[in-house]
Amino acid sequence: MSDLLTPDALDRARSDALDLFARATDLDALATARTAAIGDRSPVAMARRSLGTLPGPDRAEPGRRVNAVSQALQVAYDARRDALELERDERVLREEAVDVTALPGRLPVGARHPLTTVQERIVDVFVAMGWEVAEGPELEHEWFNFDALNFGKDHPAREMQDTLFVAPEGSGLVLRTHTSPVQIRSLLTRDLPVYVVCPGRVYRADALDATHSPVFAQLEGLAVDEGLTMAHLRGTLDAFATAMFGAGLATRLRPSYFPFTEPSAELDVQCFACRGASAEPGGEPCRVCSSEGWIEVGGCGMVNPAVLLACGVDPDRYSGFAFGMGLERTLMFRHGITDIRDFYEGDQRFTHAFGLEA
Ligand code: DAH
Repeated sequence: MSDLLTPDALDRARSDALDLFARATDLDALATARTAAIGDRSPVAMARRSLGTLPGPDRAEPGRRVNAVSQALQVAYDARRDALELERDERVLREEAVDVTALPGRLPVGARHPLTTVQERIVDVFVAMGWEVAEGPELEHEWFNFDALNFGKDHPAREMQDTLFVAPEGSGLVLRTHTSPVQIRSLLTRDLPVYVVCPGRVYRADALDATHSPVFAQLEGLAVDEGLTMAHLRGTLDAFATAMFGAGLATRLRPSYFPFTEPSAELDVQCFACRGASAEPGGEPCRVCSSEGWIEVGGCGMVNPAVLLACGVDPDRYSGFAFGMGLERTLMFRHGITDIRDFYEGDQRFTHAFGLEA
């Protein structure tokens, strides 16, 4: 009789198999155990196959033993499988439980940055008056940033503490220090007359503190046409002041100097909070304008004929005006923002305060 069919061998096969089932801790492990314990090449299956080698009459006894073992193993396997299935189902129910009473997660709705919205708002005002939007590179050639704008070779604005020069030394490249080079690019590439607004980022070698940033936003305007005078400049700036601060505010030009405009002026807009009252004798103090009655908004002037000449425009036939302003500064006034860094830190609590304007 084959060794496989002895009571001892079958007992061992049985207890080894039961052991395998017991040690299987999940259904995958149990499937592997099943193959080893009662699969085609398991000891019990081999034993059953070896029954065929016995003469008929000698088969009955070992046959019963084999049957008894394989039935017992089948029962043990089924029981272990049922137990593991139950365990799995309970675990899945536990792990994938959904709290139907929980509040739905809300996707935070982003807000547009106030610099973007103010820029678009100003641009819209000018586009509505028939102006176009012009853009230029932030990495700019010195000729556009300075020379063509009539800055002398030794103008202090070129100095290291203001301008970020781009390596290698003598490359002639700077990070543009203002949006005024777009005036030059516009005059060189567009047909006259030219009416453009140019929003953009500019760079200065300033350390970041509450009122300075090495990168900030400006908006430039340029009009070159036949017969333009300072009266046109005034009217245009009034339209801008209305768009930015509301209707009915006076503007004022104070004499100033810029190499690319002659005459040049600083533009003041009457304080939108006190409407100038704080500067009157006996007026309540105003926090917005520090009781000056006026807010300084930017620079402006009539385009210097030297600039027109540099761009091949005949100054005897054409004249123009230009203006430029820092957007953060203007927004800081408008919203009482005391730290310019708030614009750049990406804290949504700051941005959201400007509303979810689309
Ligand atoms: N570019 C000047 C600045 O950065 C601002 C400016 C002043 C622009 C007068 C102009 C202008 O167009 O006419 O300080």
